[in-house]
Amino acid sequence: MEKQYKRTLITTALPYANGPVHIGHLAGVYIPADIYARYLRLQGREVAMIGGSDEHGVPITIKAKNEGVTPQDIVDRYHNIIRDSFKELGISFDVYSRTTSATHAATASEFFRRLYDKGEFVEKTSMQLYDEKAHQFLADRYVKGECPICHAQGAYGDQCEKCGSSLNATDLINPVSAITGNTPVLRETHHWYLPLDRWEPALRQWILEEHKEWKTNVYGQCKSWLDLGLQPRAVTRDLDWGVPVPVEGAEGKVLYVWFDAPIGYISNTKEIFPDTWEQWWKSPDTRIINFIGKDNIVFHCIVFPAMMMAYGDGFQLPDNVPANEFLNLEGDKISTSRNWAVWLHEYLRDFPGKQDVLRYVLTATAPETRDNDFTWSDFQTRNNSELVAILGNFINRVVVLTHKYYNGTVPAAGELAQVDTKALADIRAAVEALTDSLETFHFREALKQAMEIARIGNRYLQETEPWKLTKSDPQRTATVMNVAMQICASLAIAFEPFTPFMAHRLAADLRIDHLCWSRLGHTDLVPAGTVVAKSDLMFEKIEDAAIQAQLDRLARIKKENEAKAWKPAEQKADVDFDTFCRSDLRVATVKECIKVPKADKLLKFTLDDGSGTDRIIVSGIAAYYPNPEELVGKQVCYIANLPVRKLRGIESQGMILSAVNADGSLSLITTSAAVAPGAQIQ
Ligand code: MF3
Ligand code: ZN
Repeated sequence: MEKQYKRTLITTALPYANGPVHIGHLAGVYIPADIYARYLRLQGREVAMIGGSDEHGVPITIKAKNEGVTPQDIVDRYHNIIRDSFKELGISFDVYSRTTSATHAATASEFFRRLYDKGEFVEKTSMQLYDEKAHQFLADRYVKGECPICHAQGAYGDQCEKCGSSLNATDLINPVSAITGNTPVLRETHHWYLPLDRWEPALRQWILEEHKEWKTNVYGQCKSWLDLGLQPRAVTRDLDWGVPVPVEGAEGKVLYVWFDAPIGYISNTKEIFPDTWEQWWKSPDTRIINFIGKDNIVFHCIVFPAMMMAYGDGFQLPDNVPANEFLNLEGDKISTSRNWAVWLHEYLRDFPGKQDVLRYVLTATAPETRDNDFTWSDFQTRNNSELVAILGNFINRVVVLTHKYYNGTVPAAGELAQVDTKALADIRAAVEALTDSLETFHFREALKQAMEIARIGNRYLQETEPWKLTKSDPQRTATVMNVAMQICASLAIAFEPFTPFMAHRLAADLRIDHLCWSRLGHTDLVPAGTVVAKSDLMFEKIEDAAIQAQLDRLARIKKENEAKAWKPAEQKADVDFDTFCRSDLRVATVKECIKVPKADKLLKFTLDDGSGTDRIIVSGIAAYYPNPEELVGKQVCYIANLPVRKLRGIESQGMILSAVNADGSLSLITTSAAVAPGAQIQ
């Protein structure tokens, strides 16, 4: 680091309080931020980690309307779930507040008012979409339609989720109201716009020239925005949920959620430091780091910085914005509305006491440079063959052997042999790589290096074999066990940012009362004579049944979503009545039904059609009737007067009728009561 900062302000994107938090949020934002905050604290640096719920915005009001409750009810519910589940996962916020707080209303309002007074806005009258049935303007997610760029259906008034373009509601083709389904009309309204174009040169200089060290995904997105040219952006909305616009004549208008939410970082800082908050925002010896997901880059790197520059008064821009890409779940995009997610509060219920496992797996698979996939089988493998087999195993072996040979009292080391100094040197190298990776926000790599310490420990025991030495060379055994114990103690420090529950338990067992990064790799972490505790295993195997239960849940959700998304096929073009009447539809009774050899899809039906001669029909439904003999005696419907077709050498005399289900599977059509074979259908 070129510059020594006094303190670091870590902000984490404020999650919308319209649903619980899921693994995508955790892997992208909260776990990396927490690792970084914990690491800095172990370094003895001054840190504030700021969090809170984002409680404004249209989706919250839509959810409230759908449920027949108030927006306040919605945000109260989810704020509590989110706050409690973060706490249980060990996300070490110094404050977790909310944008409906009084402090926030005052702060956001003052911020707007100052920009207004300084002439930093342009006021514009324009035509906006209006729902005459709901009597309101349709901003952002209140309106859906066809994307003008990629022509996908269902694009929102602020963004197309298909192509990612950010949109204006009035750009949508064939817009419809998300409230009433009505086609909106255009009506005149006025709003305040932040002229981002005024700040373009300053932003170009700040990002493109002065922050070439930012992650390439972040730098690249900023560059393409800047190269397109910035436009004024409306920062107010015609809505009744949000911070009221503090200007006369602005009744019925609130601040746009993306104007007020980032100010929430400031409001929440004020809540913990009512007297000294300014030094966290305005002092050049404070460093600000914004942890966010990739969909938030423009707001944190362009819009909020422009707001702060417009405000002036010494507000500091972030030093880094280490945004992550997205985490997928079992190959599909995580989606709150489709319930395609692993929800944190449900994970905590289903895997009690396994906070560290989720933290570990989500760090190991964090989407740092590109989208990544979470799978339950990977979760199980990483637990069983990394946490249990490498990390837990090493700790357990050291503690168990110390109890076996020395009743739990750490023995004194004699002179170190080459194998000992080699292991300690390897650990120092891993610690150096670990520290470098943490400083540069490469948390996956950092975790690998922390794990390397445990691997070195296991290798050391394998090489020195204290279980053999103990019989032949007690002095040498004592040295080895002392060194192994020191390696174990280093793990408590190195893993504290990643798996804090395990780390603090281990530290307590080894009687270390103060974890300190600069002591990593030292050989006096647990002094000889210390009596260490032998507690339960640090990690346990996760069995197949627990994983299968999660996969079953996802399979159920996938089915439900398919059923919800299903729409009957479009009606075919009309046929005249006579044409229809020429089809001879009838009922027959199944006499025999067998699989057609060497054709997976086909069943051969032998039917009693009342004529006295068997009718043979081959039908492509074998996949849906694995036990075709069970169909014998059932009545089926068929078309009798089709030309005979040869299928796999069998002459098929007609077609059996089936209905096509949402998932494409087929179900035979039958009668509601037994009828005579050969009966006509009319
Ligand atoms: N609620 C936003 C989201 O989930 C993030 C807001 S970040 C803040 O995408 F800066 F506005 F607070
Ligand atoms: Zn699009």
